[in-house]
Amino acid sequence: MKEKIAKIEKEAKEALEKIVDKQTLNELKIKYLGKKSELTNVLKDMANIAKEERPKIGSLANKVRNELEEKIKEKEQELEKIELARKIEKEKIDVTLPGTKVKKGTKHPVNSVIEEIEDLFVSMGYTVESGPELETDRFCFELLNLPQGHPARDMQDSFYITDEYLLRTQTSAVQARTMLANKEKSPIRMICPGKTYRREDDATHSHQFTQAEGLVIDKNISFADLKGTLEIFAKEIIGKNSKLRFRPSYFPFTEPSYEVDVSCFKCGGKGCNLCKKTGWIEVLGAGMVHPNVLTMCGYDPEKYSGFAFGLGLERIAMFKYNIPDMRYLYANDVRFLSQF
Ligand code: PHE
Repeated sequence: MKEKIAKIEKEAKEALEKIVDKQTLNELKIKYLGKKSELTNVLKDMANIAKEERPKIGSLANKVRNELEEKIKEKEQELEKIELARKIEKEKIDVTLPGTKVKKGTKHPVNSVIEEIEDLFVSMGYTVESGPELETDRFCFELLNLPQGHPARDMQDSFYITDEYLLRTQTSAVQARTMLANKEKSPIRMICPGKTYRREDDATHSHQFTQAEGLVIDKNISFADLKGTLEIFAKEIIGKNSKLRFRPSYFPFTEPSYEVDVSCFKCGGKGCNLCKKTGWIEVLGAGMVHPNVLTMCGYDPEKYSGFAFGLGLERIAMFKYNIPDMRYLYANDVRFLSQF
């Protein structure tokens, strides 16, 4: 019996030495320690052994069993360590390798201008509003004092979709929307950048362009407020030393109306090819909101007054970034766009 146990022990230990993976280790565990293992059988055979031998054999078998259990556990831990080391080796990252470059986009010049204008006007207490690009004739023209058949409708070549709907030709439509939504409930100070559409296409005009409209309605708003506001706009957005020039003009929704020029930022007003030797560049239209517009949009012109202005943002971007042709802004050419 003793020899049998010793033989099992020797065999098991030798087999254990050779094991390199968990599965065979498991098989070995079953073979030597399981319910049907030889060691278990020895203990079952105890009945056939002389009485005085039993305790000795029993304790020997138990000792071997405990030892084997211990050794198998050790082996298990050893194998786990090896496996972990292998895994770490396989998943190792070399942090010194150069990374893959991610191509970054840049802000479109028109978007940069929009953001600057929004920041400036929000800092003066304005809200930023928006309206639909597919607009009704009513908001785009009628409520702005441009009834059907008004000759001034010819000032803007429009894309009509139906008799009633058109692609808005001016962000002024948002003036009417903002006033009607408010109807004397509160004073208005709003700026509204957005896309506009007209049937024109050349180096300085595109069929789609971007305008920003400004509108202020309150009690006692005067031309001085308009002038002061536009002066701040010119100094902050166009250039510290910019001067403004107001030329009387005509818009159906403002009275009086002006076209506003800014001193040429290339030559500072001396005259160059950019300003066509005049020293001035036209940047926006503006005026005091027409009483008819106030009335139609729910404001009593006896109590309220206001000013409005509208400017083309592509022009501002072209001046700021020295872009010679407006169409570059829409060509979607990375070589152009990545310069900003
Ligand atoms: N909507 C005018 C245009 O597109 C600009 C403008 C806006 C003029 C507001 C006066 C007041 O030409």
